[in-house]
Amino acid sequence: MVNAGLSDPTFKQMRDFIYEKSGIFIPDAKKYLVESRLETVMKEKNMHTFEEYLSFIRLNNEDEIKRLFDAMTIKETYFFREPQQLDIFIKNIVQKVLEQKKTGAKKIKVWSAACSTGEEPYTLSIMLKENPSYQNIFEIYASDISRGALESAQRAVYNSYSVRNIPEPYIRKYFSNSGQTYTLSPAVKVPVKFMNVNLINEKDMKLLRGMDIIFCRNVLIYFDDKAKQKVVSYLYDNLNQGGFLFIGASESLHSVTRALRPTIMNNVVVYQKV
Ligand SMILES: C[S@@+](CC[C@H](N)C(=O)[O-])C[C@H]1O[C@@H](n2cnc3c(N)ncnc32)[C@H](O)[C@@H]1O
Repeated sequence: MVNAGLSDPTFKQMRDFIYEKSGIFIPDAKKYLVESRLETVMKEKNMHTFEEYLSFIRLNNEDEIKRLFDAMTIKETYFFREPQQLDIFIKNIVQKVLEQKKTGAKKIKVWSAACSTGEEPYTLSIMLKENPSYQNIFEIYASDISRGALESAQRAVYNSYSVRNIPEPYIRKYFSNSGQTYTLSPAVKVPVKFMNVNLINEKDMKLLRGMDIIFCRNVLIYFDDKAKQKVVSYLYDNLNQGGFLFIGASESLHSVTRALRPTIMNNVVVYQKV
C-alpha cells in the first residue's frame, strides 16, 4: 500500500524527470494524474512512498523507464480519426508523392509516428488496400514510446469504441467480430512494421530516415515548445525532400518551425519539406 501522498516538491522532480526523458510536460493541474498512475506502478513494485519510487527511477534502468512511459502516456485513439485529413492523404498526397517518385524504383514509406494501439497505421493500411493500384508499393512504419501500446497494436483485437467510425463494409471485410471484440485480419496487419521509438530521442529517431509521408497526430499537444521544436526538427530530418507531415487537426506548428511549408487543402493543413 502507498503510505503517503505525492508532495509538491516530489511531484516537480518527477515531472522534470518525465519531461527530460520523454518531452511530455505535465502541468500542475495534472498532478492527480501522476499520483494515481504512479500508485499503480508502485504497487507492482511494492513501494510505499513516491520518494522511494523517484530514487528508484533515477537509477535510469531502461526497462523501468519504459514502464514509467507506459503508465504516463495518454493513448486515446480510434480507427478513421480525423477523416478529412485521411481523405486528403489518399486523394491528393499519395498521388503527389507518386509523381515525385516517377522512376518507381523505391517503395513509398509512410510512418505513423505515435501510433498508440495501432488504429492509425491500420487505418492507413486499410485505405491503401482499398486501392488496387497501390498494392505492394507502400511500406507502413508505426512507432510509439509505450511498449504496452505496441503489444496491444500487434495483437490487433479491438473494442466497439475503437471501430465505431469504420465504414460498415470495411468492418465486414477486414475484421472478424465475436461479441464485443473485433479482430483485425492479417492482410491489414502484414504491411505494418512496429517499432519502439521515443520521438525526443535522437538515436531512436535516426532509425526512421527516408520517409515520404509522416503522421504525427495528437502527440505534440503533450510537449512544450522546446520539446516540440526538437521533435519537429527530427521529423524534418526523417522526411525526404518533397515529403509531407500531418499533425493533429487541433495542433499547430506556428512558432515551432518555418522549415516545413504549410499548405491548405480542403480546410486541412499539410506540411511539406520543400
Ligand atoms: C493520444 S495518442 C495519439 C495516437 C494517434 N496518433 C491518434 O492520433 O489517434 C498519443 C500517443 O503518443 C505517444 N507518445 C507520447 N510521448 C511520446 C514520445 N516522446 N515518443 C513517442 N510516442 C509518444 C503515447 O504513448 C500515445 O500512444
